[in-house]
Order: sequence, then C-alpha cells, then structure tokens
Amino acid sequence: MDLTQAIRARRSIRKFKPGASIPREDVETMLEAAMMSPSACNTRPWEFFVVEDPKRKEALRKAHPYASMLETAALAIVVCARPEDQSGVCDGYWPLDCGAAVENLLLQAVDLGCGACWCGCWPSPRAAALQEILNTQSVPVALVAVGVPDESPAARGHYDPGKVTWLA
Ligand SMILES: Cc1cc2nc3c(=O)[nH]c(=O)nc-3n(C[C@H](O)[C@H](O)[C@H](O)COP(=O)(O)O)c2cc1C
Repeated sequence: MDLTQAIRARRSIRKFKPGASIPREDVETMLEAAMMSPSACNTRPWEFFVVEDPKRKEALRKAHPYASMLETAALAIVVCARPEDQSGVCDGYWPLDCGAAVENLLLQAVDLGCGACWCGCWPSPRAAALQEILNTQSVPVALVAVGVPDESPAARGHYDPGKVTWLA
C-alpha cells in the first residue's frame, strides 16, 4: 500500500479480534513512524507508553469514557508530551508535535494491516487520571488503541473545495 492509499483507507477501528496479538516488531515500526514526525525546533517533546498488561489496559479503559474498544484491543500506545523539552526553545508547540506523531502512527498501522483508534486525552481532565495510571509527569495527549481489526469501515472523507482559498 502506498501513502496515497493509506491516507485514504485509514478509519478509526473500534472492533478488534479478541485475543489477537500484534507482533512487537510491528509496534516498534509504529513507534518509529511516530518519532519520525516533524517537530518544532526538532525538540521531539514526546514519550510513548506501550500498555499490553491487561490490568493496566483495563485501568485505562475505565479512566477514559470513550475508549471502550480497549477491551478487545491488543494494546494501547499512550502518546505523552514533555512540555519541558521545549522550554526556552519552542515553548507551547508540544500538542502539535504530538498530534503529528499520532497521525504518523495511525498511518503506519494502516500499512501494517493493524487497526487503531485515536482516543483524545489532553486537554480533557482525563489526562490527569491517565498520568496517575502510567505513573508519569508527562502529559497524555492521546491514547491509541491498537489491535487486529474485526471491522473494515469504508473509506470516507472527501476533498471539499469550499474549505480552500486559493490566493493565486
Ligand atoms: C483529537 C481526537 C480525539 C478523538 N477521541 C476519540 C475518542 O475518545 N474515542 C473514539 O472512539 N474516537 C475518537 N476520535 C476518533 C474520531 O471520532 C474519528 O477520527 C472521526 O469520527 C472520523 O472518523 P475516522 O477516523 O474513521 O475517519 C478522536 C479523534 C481525534 C482527532
């Protein structure tokens, strides 16, 4: 699958094959894709928690009102920000850096045949609950549920010329 196809095929997957696992090398490929995102001043103000442990995964599910798909997901990747990595250099860009990382991760998941769903954390107060579960001071920006897909929603989204202003 090339990038043009992956971008157009990507959908949020919320049904996974229960008990099906994802090879570690695929998880590492997703993490590598995430870390290859552009980053303000090249500060790369992120860290990633890969949660496979069923108890911790269940705790995340309970702490997030819109992440029930974690029940059948093989794992969660929590993309966290380290705002302090940008202080005095590129302050405040970290949500954007992390968002770019999440999108790279999602597109890599498509290419690997995995299903994934971006579940928002920051700026919701639920980010604090996730911090506690992960025992980190970093800011959970997104929880990405990852698993073997058990649904294949049709591609959607479309080019909307009304959202574009051409200043030719
Ligand atoms: C910042 C952000 C937060 C989101 N949070 C959730 C969430 O908590 N739970 C969920 O099931 N989907 C979540 N989504 C996925 C969106 O609902 C989904 O991307 C949107 O409906 C478009 O569908 P598609 O991804 O299949 O194209 C989130 C997406 C973004 C970008």
